[in-house]
Amino acid sequence: MILYFSGTGNSKYIAELFCRYMNDECYSIEEKIDFGKLIASQEIIGFCYPIYGSRVPRIMREFVQKHIEFLKNKKIIIFCTQLIFSGDGARVFTDMFPRNYVQVLYAEHFLMPNNVCNFFLLSLASEKRIKKYITKAERKMHIVCRNIKNGIIKKRGFNFVSRILGLAQGVFMPIIEKKTLDCVVIGNDCIQCRLCVSICPMNNLEYENRKIAHKSNCTICYRCINKCPQKAITLFFHQKVKVQYKGLC
Ligand SMILES: Cc1cc2nc3c(=O)[nH]c(=O)nc-3n(C[C@H](O)[C@H](O)[C@H](O)COP(=O)(O)O)c2cc1C
Ligand code: SF4
Ligand code: SF4
Repeated sequence: MILYFSGTGNSKYIAELFCRYMNDECYSIEEKIDFGKLIASQEIIGFCYPIYGSRVPRIMREFVQKHIEFLKNKKIIIFCTQLIFSGDGARVFTDMFPRNYVQVLYAEHFLMPNNVCNFFLLSLASEKRIKKYITKAERKMHIVCRNIKNGIIKKRGFNFVSRILGLAQGVFMPIIEKKTLDCVVIGNDCIQCRLCVSICPMNNLEYENRKIAHKSNCTICYRCINKCPQKAITLFFHQKVKVQYKGLC
């Protein structure tokens, strides 16, 4: 079983790909089900999430915290999706547990298309490029599944060099995360369709007094920014969104 968080579809794609190849089940952590009971019934649990500057998204961290008692002595598989690089993006997941609390069976990173659409240094991939990402990810997942079936253990991001690189990259992320809590901006183009309110995984957005307000609870997933029909939302960099990431179908 895989439990995933996906802001814009990449991690969902990877989680579903694994489950397709392994004939397994996957659940978004946003689903309203009894995850404690579900986790307790499984021997091996997979987790899949996007990396944010060598940090596990806050929404996933809070999910693990909430269900930590059920995870004791479980075998876990970790998949982390990233645009370019995260150093120890899969390993940082284990920082949430005391030593020897869980046993890691496998950890892997998958390169996926960019979803940060409001920063001039990061452009969105073309359709052709997105297909290349998918082909490579599918190939990699075939190998991962074959290894897991054969009992081969691989832990991407767990070596010393990855840890140092991850540390160097992740050093600013707590500051960015804190700052971002309060910096979702809704521009004047907003038509109050309330789509963003209904799709935000953190219930961070609300409609009040005929405008959209935020509750200082953003997990920086970029979902609303990429989905707003008016391209009216921006975050952190505060550059106007020109092209949105449509996600993977
Ligand atoms: C706030 C934020 C920080 C990110 N940081 C990194 C990073 O440090 N390294 C990287 O390679 N990709 C980074 N990415 C890219 C995402 O990890 C990548 O696009 C991921 O596949 C998105 O997954 P999703 O569609 O499931 O949300 C970042 C994206 C966001 C929104
Ligand atoms: S999705 Fe965009 S247009 Fe619709 S309410 Fe939210 S900010 Fe406004
Ligand atoms: S406000 Fe937007 S970016 Fe922040 S958590 Fe909600 S959907 Fe994601």
